[in-house]
Amino acid sequence: MTAKMNCAPVVAIDGPSGSGKGTIALAVARQLGWHYLDSGALYRVIGYVAAKNNINLEDETELIGLADNLDIEFRNGSVWLCGEQIGDEIRTEEAGKRASMVAPIRSVREKLLIWQRSRAQSPGLVADGRDMGSVVFPNATCKIFLTAGAEARAQRRFRQLRDKGFDVNISQLFKEISERDARDANRVISPLKPAEDAVMLDTTNLNIEVVVSQVMTLVRSAIKQMT
Ligand code: DC
Repeated sequence: MTAKMNCAPVVAIDGPSGSGKGTIALAVARQLGWHYLDSGALYRVIGYVAAKNNINLEDETELIGLADNLDIEFRNGSVWLCGEQIGDEIRTEEAGKRASMVAPIRSVREKLLIWQRSRAQSPGLVADGRDMGSVVFPNATCKIFLTAGAEARAQRRFRQLRDKGFDVNISQLFKEISERDARDANRVISPLKPAEDAVMLDTTNLNIEVVVSQVMTLVRSAIKQMT
């Protein structure tokens, strides 16, 4: 992996699980014709590869090796690992839990930081995650932090996973999401928290089209100020 400065414009969209950031960020990237970075997928893929190879999630040396050799690409809204498309196996709540256990490891985050910054290429990048605006792209052109009530987020995740064909239970999902939020928010390094200059957007009662349109308005105004 090689380091590159963040010189193209970046839209950072952060928020907790189920806040809608993935769907919104992808739609915004498509409207702008910019690149898209799903940073959560990086942690999910490391957890997934570790599980496949029986690597203990506490074995930092092995996990750092995985992060250092991550041959991952985002194409047409899909994740590709070593040239092979990864399916929904990284989207389960179990995969999310593994990702959130890998995420507090400082050296893993440092490896991924370099990789993520190298994605800021022309004409621009829309990046979603937990620390896009606060740590990875502190100079982002536009920073948005999406929130939504825990119940609404659990409902969304429930529908999303059910539509992908997974057998899910709403109360179990609510419990898992709350545990993951607590783990992500309370870790020492890059905790889930809005950047000071992020615009907060509560999506609890908003549909996707409305959120995309509000985000696009914010992005266009930020781009205008830049020029
Ligand atoms: O956004 P997601 O649900 O795919 O993320 C999965 C986990 O990865 C999340 O619980 C915490 C971690 N993560 C992170 O620590 N930093 C990011 N920028 C994105 C995700």
